[in-house]
This record gives sequence, C-alpha cells and structure tokens, in this order.
Amino acid sequence: MSEWWRSAVVYQVYPRSFADKNGDGIGDLEGIISRLDYLESLSVDAIWMSPCFTSPQRDHGYDVSNYFDIDPMFGDIESLDRLVEEARRRKIKIVLDIVPNHCSIDHAWFQAAVAAGRGSAERERFYFREGNGPNGDEPPNNWLSLFGGSAWTRVLEPDGSPGQWYLHVFDAGQPDFNWEHPDVQQHFDDVLTFWLDRGVEGFRVDAVTVVGKTPGLPEGPMPPPGLPAAHASGMNRHFQRHDIARHYWARWRRTLDRYQAEHPGREPFTICEAYIPRKPQMILDYVAPDQFHQAFAFDLMLSPWLPGHVRQFVDRYVSEVIHQGGALAWTLNNHDTHRSVTRYGRADAASAESWTGNNLVYTNTPVDEDLGERRSRAMAVFTVGLPGAFFLYQGEELGLPEVLDIPDDRRQDPIFHRTHGNEKGRDGCRVPLPWGLTPQRNFGFSSGDTTHESWLPQPASWGERSAEKHDTDPDSITNMYRELLRVRRELASSISEDFSWVDSGHEDVVSYRHRGVLTLFNMSDEPREIHETGRVLVTSTPGALVNGELAPNSAVWLGN
Ligand code: GLC
Repeated sequence: MSEWWRSAVVYQVYPRSFADKNGDGIGDLEGIISRLDYLESLSVDAIWMSPCFTSPQRDHGYDVSNYFDIDPMFGDIESLDRLVEEARRRKIKIVLDIVPNHCSIDHAWFQAAVAAGRGSAERERFYFREGNGPNGDEPPNNWLSLFGGSAWTRVLEPDGSPGQWYLHVFDAGQPDFNWEHPDVQQHFDDVLTFWLDRGVEGFRVDAVTVVGKTPGLPEGPMPPPGLPAAHASGMNRHFQRHDIARHYWARWRRTLDRYQAEHPGREPFTICEAYIPRKPQMILDYVAPDQFHQAFAFDLMLSPWLPGHVRQFVDRYVSEVIHQGGALAWTLNNHDTHRSVTRYGRADAASAESWTGNNLVYTNTPVDEDLGERRSRAMAVFTVGLPGAFFLYQGEELGLPEVLDIPDDRRQDPIFHRTHGNEKGRDGCRVPLPWGLTPQRNFGFSSGDTTHESWLPQPASWGERSAEKHDTDPDSITNMYRELLRVRRELASSISEDFSWVDSGHEDVVSYRHRGVLTLFNMSDEPREIHETGRVLVTSTPGALVNGELAPNSAVWLGN
C-alpha cells in the first residue's frame, strides 16, 4: 500500500468560484475540466472539491438535498465522470466533500418528515421536539447555532398549525441528522460506495465534531453575552461528542477498508474537518486506526505571526500526532477563513492577542497586502516542507487577499444574515478567481460571450492578481508555488521522512531538517545572519538568501 494521501499535495476547488464555463456567473465542473492543465502545472496529487451535489445553496452546497447527484448549476453526473477521467489522465485524483451532520430542508427525508407530522417514523431521522412554554413557542432547549441565533426552528404541522421544532447546529436550512437511526448510517455507506464506484479516490468529511449528541439533548451552558456566534455556541459540548460519534466513523472506515480490499489498485481515504484548536490529543483520536485516515491541523492557519507560536504548534502536532502514527494535513487557507495575505498583512498580525482560535473573528486593523504576500510566500515554503500532507486553497497561489469591502447587499453567507450583519462571514475568501488580466468576462472567470456578472463582485484590482499576469512573471507567487511543489515532489520519492528542529542561532528564524532539506524561516522584519550552507533549492522571494543573510519575512530550502 502506498498510503499516497499521507504526503499528498491537494488543491481545494470551491466550485462556485473556480471557473465558469457556461457563462452564468457561477463556476461549474466543465470550468474545472478546462483548467486541469493549470492544476497539473502545480504538481498537485489531488483536487478536493467543496460540495457540488444537488442543493438549494443556502450554505453554498453544504446543504445537500440529494447526495447521489450533481447540482444542475455545476453540471451532471456525466461531467463529474469526465472530470474524474480527465484528471486521472494527468495523474490527479478527485476528492469529494461529504456532509454527514446535516442535509438540506429540501432533502426528500426532511420534506417527508414535515409532511408526516408528529410522532411519525419519518421524523426520527432528524431531531424533532416539542417546544417549551405554554404554547410550545420557545425552543426545546437553549442550544445555539454556530452560525448565530437558536439552533432550533419551528415547523408548521400538516394542518397549518405551529408545531414541533427541529435541530440545526448550522443554518435553519441544514437540519441535523439523527445518527442513531439505522437509515442514516446506511445512507452514508451507500453515498461513499456510490462515488467510489465512479472513480473518486477520497472524501473530505465536513464538520465531524458536531455529529455525536448527548442523549436526551440536555441544556447547555449559558454563554456570556457578546461572544461571537461560533464561540458562544461552541461552548456547548452536548453536540460535540466524539465518544458517541466514533462508532459511526468506525463503520465508515470498515466500508472504505472493505472497498479497498475488494478493488485492488484503489486506495481511497478520508480526511476529517475536526475543528478543534490547540488539542492535538483530540486530533490523534480522530485518526485512530478505526477512524479517519487523516485530519487537518488547523492551528498553523490560526496562528499569529509569532515564531514561538508557530514552532510550538508544529512541534506539538509532529510529536503528538505524526510521531504517534497519525496522518495530518497542514493548511494555510480554506473557504471558511480570511486569506493569509490579509491575515499576515494586518497591523496586529504579530501580536499574541490576534489569536482567537476562531477562523471567523478578525480585527479591523489596516492591512499591508505587499507584506502579507511576502509573509504568505515564506509561510508556504515553511509549511510545504513539513512532514504530512499539504492542502492549498484556490487563489492562494495567486496571492489573493481577502475581499473586505463586499457591499452588504451582495453578501450571501448565512453567517452574515443570521448575525444581522454583526459578523461579515466568509464571502471575502470566496470571490471568483481572476484568470485574465482585463475585466472582460469577469476577469476570465466566465467563458463565452457572457454578460452575467460573477455571483460575488470582483475588485477592480483583480487583474493584477490574475493567473495570466502571474504566468508572465518568473518571480510571481504562482511560479514560486510551482517551483516549491515541483521540488517537493522530487524529494518525496527519494528521501527519508525524518524530522528534527535545527538551532539557527536566532529565536525568530524557525528551522528544521526534513527529507534531507534544511528549511530556514525568518519571521522577523530584519535580515538575519545564517551560518548553515547548502545548495539553495527554493526561496520564497527572489534574493531571499544573499551572502549568508536571510532577508526579512522570507524562507529558503537548502539541500546538501
Ligand atoms: C464546515 C464547512 C463550512 C460549512 C459548515 C456547515 O465547517 O467547511 O463551509 O458552512 O461545515 O456544513
């Protein structure tokens, strides 16, 4: 077995925003197919696609109404088949995004549950409860939604009267499944097998931490007022019970292991989104041999620009997870998080207070995007050299910043709406990609002679960050990523996996040796003298290492 996923490089596509082939202003699968040569040029092993299943898009695909079909907005099953095939020709695997905690209120099971009324078998696949108070018009308990407001919404009964409530730890459009129900467990076995049969080679598993619920759904703690929605809601452990959910995941693992045994040559994997800041021990539990193959290590993405923090996070995840046999994926960006160019360019990026442990809470300090890009490049060089897998998010390789000034009336994230605008949400990292230099056809995001504007507005400066622009500049961030990932691929096949810290002589130059390469990462705003020597394999910016001096906010790989 190759266990290819342990050290894979995976590119995350957010289908709505990657490439729009049919010109309707929203990305689609044909668009992804049309850009596979570009992805191949980045030496990626796989593409993870955020959900493209049938969905009313209330949380942009994370509310699935049919797990066995592709939403017409993105294409159809045949286009998915073609994508798998065309990617395979380029030695790229396809990883789908499976949402187990909840479906959509448009899902046939939920519609049937509402229609069948109180006490019906159909309602048992979800959490339907009577409300509190004399008329049942208060929620069944005090649980809060991670997206803001109550975690309960009331339905109208078939006779039109106000009736029971259903649980949703995210948006009201995303009813939580009752995982104790055998139908639910069987459904996901079928989903995994269905897509494996179509040649998919892995699954990113969404929001796994909220799947287990304390039986009886007891009251949670009362959070102090004024906390961000995800913090307040997240204090409640009653819907974060891995000790309960682990039986469901063990069943998934058996399904995958069986599939692999019955299909020689196939090696599918799961990577879980267990969003648990600063608890590598819990992450290790999620990647136990009967659980998921791999988990994200999010702490580096959440870290302030501080060498002590960065070193400590890496040290803990390497020693407490990787060296215990657990597989990890590092990541610096995704579709839920402010982009790294903006995070690292913030005036308070290097302050310990900027750590909130929450990817949705940010200060309003001014942003220096040039500094942010410089630091993002250096952080990428540092991170790509680590043991484990690396996931990058579309546009990261273009150095895209977070778009902070999307007009409120164009914002679509349910977090923005559920918090009444108190939290801006995640639209700013989901703005459609600029492929072309000029604004025609949404900076080349859309094809044909379309006049449709992209679903989120693109900034006027987007052309300067376009793939076309970066392609012509050998020193661009895109070409740095190409070089970095090309060299990583070459090394991966030839050199051992040993990892050790190296004392660089400077507290703010974080250094390690891995795969026979020495990585030096200068996080200070001053140049630092370096005594180690070796052949320069990769630099984060041109001229980062000259005459033994490592430039501010830069990183290098040195070979023997
Ligand atoms: C995960 C996804 C996020 C989604 C949520 C609910 O955190 O990454 O985009 O909104 O789950 O499915």
